[in-house]
Amino acid sequence: MFNNQLVSYSGVQPSGNLTIGNYLGAIKNFSIYSEKYKCFYCVVDEHAITVRQVPADLRRRTYETLALYVACGLDPDKNTLYVQSHVHEHAELAWILNCYTMFGELSRMTQFKDKSSKHSDNINAGLFTYPTLMAADILLYQTDVVPVGVDQKQHVELCRDIAERFNQLYPDTFTIPEPIISKSGMKIMSLADPTKKMSKSDENVNAVVYILDDKDTVIRKFKRAVTDSDTVVRFAEDKHGINNLMTIYSCFTGKTFDEIEKEFDGKGYGEFKLAVGEVCADALAPVRQRHAELLADKAYLESLMKKGAEEASYYARRTLGKVQKKLGFVKI
Ligand code: TRP
Repeated sequence: MFNNQLVSYSGVQPSGNLTIGNYLGAIKNFSIYSEKYKCFYCVVDEHAITVRQVPADLRRRTYETLALYVACGLDPDKNTLYVQSHVHEHAELAWILNCYTMFGELSRMTQFKDKSSKHSDNINAGLFTYPTLMAADILLYQTDVVPVGVDQKQHVELCRDIAERFNQLYPDTFTIPEPIISKSGMKIMSLADPTKKMSKSDENVNAVVYILDDKDTVIRKFKRAVTDSDTVVRFAEDKHGINNLMTIYSCFTGKTFDEIEKEFDGKGYGEFKLAVGEVCADALAPVRQRHAELLADKAYLESLMKKGAEEASYYARRTLGKVQKKLGFVKI
């Protein structure tokens, strides 16, 4: 809660590769959020450097990620969209929180264990303290809710533990945030293995439809989607591939499963897959177009970054000031 408004906060890594799972499960619903909450969406470039980045790629992806959010319909006048490194309070609060976070707590984070086994040549301290920077992101804005994927739930829980510990020592400092785990995003499964969630980091490019895929690519991927040996388009327990395609078709068209079964009665899987590909490609086309226009206008994107950073700083400054005072840092 900040200035009597409920606050929602989410961070995204600067990679332009968001999937239709992210789109249908989260991004498409963002506008509903902004009616109920003061919403912050941060492009977390400081988190990104916990693994090695090519500087030119990181820079480009930071623009791309911001542009993608705007292209998907996030209104920059109703939401605060900004880049983490533009608001220095994040790094400063992260340092302070490091001193209130236990080695044992950080050691138990499953993402740290995963990433350190994947990047065994670079298990740096930033990778280890990644969750305290994330806690700083969240706590700086006196956040009430944090919409995240299920993989980030553990980090939000640690953030709550840190905030509670801090509040016990220095009462009334932070709002305790609640994670909101998007359910529908989890329901979009891989096209290659429909028992597995569609993941932007899947090595098989045919398993994943990206928001920025062009029409031909979208259609080709759906044509190749793994289904079963049945031929009837109907929802059934063991028909994971068809269930997934029906879910996607339903999300894009608003049709119920009954309506979809009727529509494709007597038609084969081939025709159905093509139809799913077409509604998906048609829905994504304007997003792709808008994204390209935005990227061609760097000055506009930079003006959004500047405006976002100014708005975010106002909140961040107030919380950091309060924390520093409670800790006994001298103000001059
Ligand atoms: N760690 C999150 C991820 O990888 C990104 C993130 C950083 C975040 N800071 C955040 C998410 C604050 C929610 C709130 O997806």
